[in-house]
Amino acid sequence: MDIKVKKVDPKIMKPKPEDESKLGFGQIFTDHFFIVEYDSDKGWHNASIEPLRPLSLDPAAMCLHYGQEIFEGMKAYRGENDSVYLFRPEENINRMGRSAERLCMPPMDNDLFMEGLKQLVLLERDWIPRGAGSSLYIRPTMIATDAALGVRPSDKYLFYIIMSPVGAYYPEGFSPTRIYVSEKYVRAALGGVGDCKAAGNYAASLYATREATEKGCAQVLWLDARERKYVEEVGTSNIFFVIGDDLITPPLSGSILPGITRDSVIRLAGSWGINILERQLSMDEILSSNADGTLKEAFASGTAAIVSPVGQIHYRGKDHVLGDGNTGPLTEKLYNEILRIQYGEKEDPFGWRVKIS
Ligand code: COI
Repeated sequence: MDIKVKKVDPKIMKPKPEDESKLGFGQIFTDHFFIVEYDSDKGWHNASIEPLRPLSLDPAAMCLHYGQEIFEGMKAYRGENDSVYLFRPEENINRMGRSAERLCMPPMDNDLFMEGLKQLVLLERDWIPRGAGSSLYIRPTMIATDAALGVRPSDKYLFYIIMSPVGAYYPEGFSPTRIYVSEKYVRAALGGVGDCKAAGNYAASLYATREATEKGCAQVLWLDARERKYVEEVGTSNIFFVIGDDLITPPLSGSILPGITRDSVIRLAGSWGINILERQLSMDEILSSNADGTLKEAFASGTAAIVSPVGQIHYRGKDHVLGDGNTGPLTEKLYNEILRIQYGEKEDPFGWRVKIS
């Protein structure tokens, strides 16, 4: 399918951010977006790159009522000599396909997704920040647009990709965060949609996140829905602990998002000979191994957060400093190595990087 391109009038192009150290996360958007329509008769059609504009939706559009909406998060990086890289984009494309299937949405054509993504990033390449740790965040989204109030899968959808130049996800930057263990609220239960990037998962997380913020914590450490005993994820990221010589992360049991950075951490650390255990990890074990000094590090992993150290947890009214409370050596090494692969600064033994210019 051809992608029509309509460029924004250069006279009304937005100014690029002047101070890249103040980008924050997802505040500013580029000049164009990629958009494709779907209806059950025609399939995906009308693919175009256009000036970014508000969407016109019927107030009865199904995404607004029943949350039939999925998204992805990925990044474009500017390397040496203004090269442009994506990181494992086919993993995001495949995961979006799985999310679509679970939410009874039509799969996007993978080649069209990749082609639209590359064309859009190249058109907006001047928006890719230069500063260390900054990148162009990419948000593919699919929404149900049928105007109808019956609860059923929509017959019409929009798929679009918007982009935003970003710095660090957490205001703390790469400094250890304090996180709040929620026992009352859960993110996802087995059999639900916790392993999909469904918008509703994020809406459901807000209440507990507000509680965490009120307690001065950056994010929630989610426990399993059944026993409220085993750790699952942290905020919008996966979680890892270094205990003894092992790097431990909860298994992809069905309620956890299969993070692409999670997988990259596992494979990279594995290639360094580190013993990786994907197994259940209880709060009791975390506290006892912290008390006896075997718990050395904890960090979150995600596209937005990359690798982000966790310094303290707040559990049942008490603060627990993890390890020595500082960023651990493995956390720092993983952060640096992943960034260097993403920015094209070192060889890429796994073939994760996709150079698009
Ligand atoms: C990402 O890491 O890309 C995410 O999707 C997190 C986001 C919800 C901010």
